[in-house]
Amino acid sequence: MEPTTFILFGATGDLAKRKIYPALYNLFIDQKLPESFSLIGLGRREWSDETFQANVEQSLRDFSRRESADTSKIKQFVEAFRYSVLDIGRKEDYQKLLQLVEEREQELNIPQNRLFYLSVGPEFFVPIADNIQSSGLGSTQGWKRLVIEKPFGHDLQSARELNEKLSKAFTEDEVYRIDHYLGKPMVQGLETLRATNPVLQALLKNRYIANVQITANETVGVEERAGYYDHVGALRDMFQNHLLQLLMMTAIQLPHGSNIDQMRLKKKQVIEALEPVRKQDVGLNIIRGQYQAGSIKGAQVPAYTSEPGIAADSTNDTFIAAKLQIDDYFWKGVPFYIRTGKRMMEKSTRIVVEFKDPIAQLGSVKDSSLQPNLLVIEMSPNESITLQLNMNDPHHKGEIKPVNIELHSSQNDLPEAYENLIHDAMNGDATYFAHWDEVELSWEWVQPILEAFEENLIPLYPYAAGSYGPAEVDALLAKDGYHWWFDS
Ligand code: BG6
Repeated sequence: MEPTTFILFGATGDLAKRKIYPALYNLFIDQKLPESFSLIGLGRREWSDETFQANVEQSLRDFSRRESADTSKIKQFVEAFRYSVLDIGRKEDYQKLLQLVEEREQELNIPQNRLFYLSVGPEFFVPIADNIQSSGLGSTQGWKRLVIEKPFGHDLQSARELNEKLSKAFTEDEVYRIDHYLGKPMVQGLETLRATNPVLQALLKNRYIANVQITANETVGVEERAGYYDHVGALRDMFQNHLLQLLMMTAIQLPHGSNIDQMRLKKKQVIEALEPVRKQDVGLNIIRGQYQAGSIKGAQVPAYTSEPGIAADSTNDTFIAAKLQIDDYFWKGVPFYIRTGKRMMEKSTRIVVEFKDPIAQLGSVKDSSLQPNLLVIEMSPNESITLQLNMNDPHHKGEIKPVNIELHSSQNDLPEAYENLIHDAMNGDATYFAHWDEVELSWEWVQPILEAFEENLIPLYPYAAGSYGPAEVDALLAKDGYHWWFDS
């Protein structure tokens, strides 16, 4: 990997502490960092290099997945870290930064390969990008890249404006938009699973599939993020990005060994083929909900509107479920049911593909004791892929029971999403980052729903914390003769 200077805005923040430093450290231990690596942390606090390094060390002890953080390794790792005070709006601070970056490049004798990682609120993306450009930091003789996190805009128009402004300082090829779901090992494995298994390729099409269910449920509530979450809700926080990305990754059909351009084209085609929802029809296919007080695993938790920082009359959505249809050759006629919510019964992220029973459909034999075949891809809390089949029950003659064939179950100590993504960004591989086309098309699809929510055109259903969401969500599938799998 080419030598890299990693310039981290928001170096004293929570994301850096919890995710970025542990990810970089794990890459260092696995010898996946460039041999010449330099990191410059930026924040408003008046820290020295030593204070910064001590803070990074502490974050590794608190959050690294490596069980026994090895002191000598940690010391060696943080030697590459420097700190500079930066006020995002102050031009002089960028000059100081440029000087430090150049000094380090000369000291290490490395080319000007600069990765700017913006671990800051989205309102700072444009001022930082502009200052990178005007200060000369962006005029490198090597490469430059910009890594940003969601939210990428608040709706279609603001996302377009943001993109337009960023594109003045960075080209599309230089922008790496993180969607951490795309960094999850199981999500990255989806394409290979299908592309390298003709038996699955043969089956994953509308002729054989009854429906697809994508769930991303969480037990946590709004946590300490009221200021952010109450303006965003489940639709913007999870659905527009993570869940639509999961949908694209589930639905794309690609030959093994396809390159990034082919993958992006296919993803784009999937989202373009999504049947649009008209604002006046939102109520038919979309359910929104908000959690009430309840109990999760024996612990009482308050209603959303009683959480600190949330207004008592907030109509923000903490749950959303949707029925989507992809109008293409492979998926036409197969409903995709997608749901995500906070304060649900359990943490679980999974994709369930339910197969049809062609004989039952012919109407000749209908055996209600038979369970459909299922392909289940679990991403959280554990990673696994299983296929549910039917077998004779050897203990009860004549009876049939479902059996699971485990195709894959993850080992411990898998790389975390951020490790995969940071490694790819340093390596210049944008395959598992969200391209602007995907982001724009996702916003476009979601926009009528946002408007329907804002205009209160559909009900906001209450659901008890610790449940599987509002009762109406079951009706969304029941109308089509299905039910959610694995809700106990
Ligand atoms: C984040 C959302 O992007 O994803 C959070 O902002 C959410 O609200 C989180 O809790 C869920 O991620 P994961 O990987 O735990 O499913």
